[in-house]
Amino acid sequence: MEIFIDTAKLDEIKQAAAMGVLDGVTTNPTLLSRQELPFREALTEICKVVDGPVSAEVVATDAEGMIKEAQDLASIASNITVKIPSTKAGLVALKTLSEKGIMTNATLCFSPSQALLVAKAGASFVSPFVGRLDDISQAGMDLVGQIITIYVNYGFDTKVLVASIRNPMHVVDAALMGADVATVPFKVIGQLMKHPLTDVGLKKFLEDWEKVKK
Ligand code: E4P
Repeated sequence: MEIFIDTAKLDEIKQAAAMGVLDGVTTNPTLLSRQELPFREALTEICKVVDGPVSAEVVATDAEGMIKEAQDLASIASNITVKIPSTKAGLVALKTLSEKGIMTNATLCFSPSQALLVAKAGASFVSPFVGRLDDISQAGMDLVGQIITIYVNYGFDTKVLVASIRNPMHVVDAALMGADVATVPFKVIGQLMKHPLTDVGLKKFLEDWEKVKK
């Protein structure tokens, strides 16, 4: 499973890249608002650090506006993947952009029916938002399972990118289900490697090493 980082903060992206676990980045308007640089500059810098897909989201809500913004975002770097909302207008934009060879990520996906249609429209990725579903007492990971079943049934090429991840179990469950990608907040990347027995074991080894006659 590929691991993307869900942030627009360059320092977090650089740290994850240095760990050797980073395959791509997802941003959204909220994440871009949490860093200092103007958005084009931020995306340009991110694309220099990461070879893989870097998602950047349109803010237009009509198809024509989305397509125009998408083309502008795609001109920033060859690895920009344009996030298009999973709406009726979004389908038109996904179809047009797919025909133009621009990579797309159908975002804000909350149902299997949305996932089916965005795949038919040619989305490169679909982003089921698991944490936001959990937040309203619906099992987010169930949606991921449903999407994978539908895509396997019909051989869709659209990659399943599990988004809105809140904890390490979302990532583990995504991997067990065979999702293509999980986009993970920086904090959760750290949590994935944390184990109390590793810490206790390391402390004991270091203490015992002090007793070794050198
Ligand atoms: C990434 O593609 C999504 O925009 C992001 O994971 C949403 O996360 P949130 O629900 O924690 O805002």
